[in-house]
Amino acid sequence: MERTKFYVTTPIYYVNDKPHIGHAYTTIVADVLSRYHRLLDVPTYFLTGTDEHGQKVQKAADAAGITPQQQADSTVVRFQQLWKKLKITNDDFIRTTEERHKKVVQAILQDLYDRDEIYRAEYDGWYCVPDERFFMEKDLVDGKCPECHRPVEKIKEANYFFRMGKYQEWLIQYINEHPKFIQPDHRRNETLGFLRKPLNDLCISRPKSRMAWGIDLPFDKDYVCYVWFDALVNYISAVGYRSDDLKFNKWWPASYHLIGKDILTTHTVYWPTMLKAMGVEMPETIFAHGWWLIGESKMSKSLGNVINPMDMIEKYGVDAFRYFVTAEMTLGQDASFSEDAFVRRYNADLANDLGNLLSRVLNMTVRYCGGKIPEPPADVLSGADEKAMWEAVQSAVQGMEKSVDDMRISEGLGQVIAAVRGINRYLEIKQPWTLAKQEDKAPLRATLYTAAEALRVAAALLFPVMPEKMSELRKALGIQKPKPDQAQLREWGILAAGTPIAEVGGLFPRIVAEEPKPGEQLELGAQPVKPKPAPTPAAKAETPVGVTELIDYSDFSKVQMRTARVVAAEKVEGATKLLKLQVMMGEEKRQIVAGIALYYEPEKLVGRTVVVVANLKPATIRGVESQGMLLAASKGESLRLVSIDGDLSSGAVVK
Ligand code: MSP
Repeated sequence: MERTKFYVTTPIYYVNDKPHIGHAYTTIVADVLSRYHRLLDVPTYFLTGTDEHGQKVQKAADAAGITPQQQADSTVVRFQQLWKKLKITNDDFIRTTEERHKKVVQAILQDLYDRDEIYRAEYDGWYCVPDERFFMEKDLVDGKCPECHRPVEKIKEANYFFRMGKYQEWLIQYINEHPKFIQPDHRRNETLGFLRKPLNDLCISRPKSRMAWGIDLPFDKDYVCYVWFDALVNYISAVGYRSDDLKFNKWWPASYHLIGKDILTTHTVYWPTMLKAMGVEMPETIFAHGWWLIGESKMSKSLGNVINPMDMIEKYGVDAFRYFVTAEMTLGQDASFSEDAFVRRYNADLANDLGNLLSRVLNMTVRYCGGKIPEPPADVLSGADEKAMWEAVQSAVQGMEKSVDDMRISEGLGQVIAAVRGINRYLEIKQPWTLAKQEDKAPLRATLYTAAEALRVAAALLFPVMPEKMSELRKALGIQKPKPDQAQLREWGILAAGTPIAEVGGLFPRIVAEEPKPGEQLELGAQPVKPKPAPTPAAKAETPVGVTELIDYSDFSKVQMRTARVVAAEKVEGATKLLKLQVMMGEEKRQIVAGIALYYEPEKLVGRTVVVVANLKPATIRGVESQGMLLAASKGESLRLVSIDGDLSSGAVVK
């Protein structure tokens, strides 16, 4: 869709508790959409913020023994810090306790009251305390709240009501005439289903005697505004409604209100009827995404399964986290979160496909082209493979654009990763390592240049999801500008021949399992930790299958190996395959965790001389520090430790 501007919002989050993965998800999706639109040069405005009034916040404050404002002030920081950490590029952050917002809410209330859209009435009915919602007798299900199924309280009090019911027919018609208004389709049907029952007027006040934490009703100081009526207004108060017409007209109507499915009714029934009463245009699309489940269950504090995004970022990095959540969840459906799924997707898409492609391109450019982007032959794109390669990448460009339009980001990402796999395949077919041996170097230069160009475009498409890593990747390819621009997505030949490529460390080091598998050399020692980078599988494609990659002596000499004598050994508690060894390396004592418990009794190791990689960075395996790695030989299910032929004091250098 050709857009002239893009305005996206997230729900504003309650400040009763710290953020979790659900909050992070909506915000990351909004960020990814914003970054894509900016990439396409569409003027973009991205709003997020916090919902600071109401009973939930009041309760949390009471429990902490602080005022609700203090509760809000201390919790809002956690959201702001998380967004900073997650590289969220919101243009504004609105807090509903800010004056700029309160003023607008009060102006709206007064206006609606003056025009009899809001009236006072005696209310006698049922109230769900946790949901802060009123229900008629007929709405209850088995005498309980129809939404959360918890017990309800009988309530009798005077309140103020918004004449929502009178907009029912209008709303049904509007939804039917605007199929994009509520997305995905099944959510539209859900709202239409809800609207089959008579729509009641909405109670928009709370007597201060019961709940005082809110915005004062301008026409009755004994009441505060119902938190949802206040909160929804943020989407217009932040962009200048009743305060800055120029700004408001620039950004409103919103292109997307992104929400979770839990807040569908408030956004697709309350909000449109409120806007209608105010005489404000409808937002284009309210898009409800699904829930992150933990396994099959809902995340909840009581189950203790709440995922803290900060932990995931600490462990795996910001970009990997952003990639996982956007690639894993089909927008609109529920998705299950597990660390296993995270590691699997990371290793498959990022370490194997993308990381490996980059290291192949860089390694071969260094080895065969003096570390500079090679000059491609002028007619490079007339080669059938090159043409096909470029076309495949261009179709990923189109695919990504369409997926963003259709809110199918995960599909778009799937297409980009498939293109990356295609580039890897292209290299395997072209075999640059064989081409390098030919007299005529043109085919080699054509191949490496094509692969690098295709990778440049794939990286640009992934930039909105992984801004940091893709900037690094661009730098590695010798591109000065950290951000891609849209014209260059479709343009061939952006990489300038002769540009030196840059060193980057493994962009996406493979994550290795915490517990070693039998016979896996890599996991013998200190490496597999707190999921940590294992060396990226050495650039596979440069050498034909079956031929070991050759390294320089200088590479080998970086590894310091020494003999050591085992002085104590025991099992690591809770890990079937791990032993903890104390070894003496000359005068130096070291502790080493090794995955050899299935092959060696601990007591039989004491007194043996083993060979240790002595200059490996220490790592923590299952909570135990490991200060080196044992050498062993393994084949199939067998594993034997490397030992010394004859006597030699411990600490001897192995070369
Ligand atoms: N304050 C209201 C929203 C007002 S908007 C005008 C609110 N806040 S909330 O803190 O409870 O956050 C709700 C939003 O967080 C959900 O709509 C959704 O965006 C996100 N999620 C909360 N838990 C979630 C999951 N388990 N999975 C995915 N997202 C969910 O409701």
